[in-house]
Amino acid sequence: MDNVNGQPNPAPLQSLDQWEDDLLERYPDPANINKEKSTSEFRNYDAPPRDTVREFYRLNHTYQSYAFVRQKEQEFLSFNKREMSVWDAFDFLNQLVDDSDPDTDLDQFQHLLQTSEAIRADGHPDWMVLTGLFHDMGKVLCLFGEPQWAVVGDTFPVGCAFSDKIVFPEFFKNNPDINNPDYNTKYGVYEPNCGLDNVHMSWGHDEYIYQIMKPHLPEPGLYMLRYHSFYPQHREHAYGHLMNAHDVEMFKWVDLFNPYDLYSKSPNPPNWKELKPYYEDLVAKYLPSTLKF
Ligand SMILES: [Fe+2]
Ligand SMILES: [Fe+2]
Repeated sequence: MDNVNGQPNPAPLQSLDQWEDDLLERYPDPANINKEKSTSEFRNYDAPPRDTVREFYRLNHTYQSYAFVRQKEQEFLSFNKREMSVWDAFDFLNQLVDDSDPDTDLDQFQHLLQTSEAIRADGHPDWMVLTGLFHDMGKVLCLFGEPQWAVVGDTFPVGCAFSDKIVFPEFFKNNPDINNPDYNTKYGVYEPNCGLDNVHMSWGHDEYIYQIMKPHLPEPGLYMLRYHSFYPQHREHAYGHLMNAHDVEMFKWVDLFNPYDLYSKSPNPPNWKELKPYYEDLVAKYLPSTLKF
């Protein structure tokens, strides 16, 4: 999938949502959370072209190396890019316009609000509702110039062998770490059951928003943020050998969160005017007046 200059296209996905639409193909909704939707209303997810998704993962698996991740941690976890109020941050995120999506109602904020509203409707704690509202805020990385493959996509540990349970595992053959004996063994730079807090994950929107929200949310919410794209574990159970007992306990929350992220998309946008006072109070309860990105 080269462009006219023979260079790989750095942004093969027409929108970031194509990754999530592909997730729905891989992990279809078993329970149908949005029971109020009739079948005809249900958005007909156009499976993104498989070669688009393939090319996206080819780039992701080629460039997400241990050194790359450490460099991005250095670059972004000093939070010196921008300071914004929560509501300005949502406006900023919404500049990520999804022009290929025929369903124009589903901008970034709508997905966040639908996720949080589905969590609230099921009576979960308010901090989990807030977690739902923020879980994809890290996609602002795109607006700081980061390529798609360093913002979205299933996440996985770096610094140890890549599991063949990761989607498109064949593309890891181009990753420099695969020939590095420090990184290409089962445990690599880690110890058995060392705990995920000691493990560096491929860089993207999950780790970024986790680090931003770390001082403000209870631990289960932080696990949800940090590992919501870690499909190789929460769906495929490929990295239990790096987890400790506490991670296993906390992943019950990650599992609880995942269906709200994947299956809460509805063509009927929630009424933001009505909901705004609730969310203003919720944000004020947990968060400072501004957040540093
Ligand atoms: Fe996400
Ligand atoms: Fe999401």
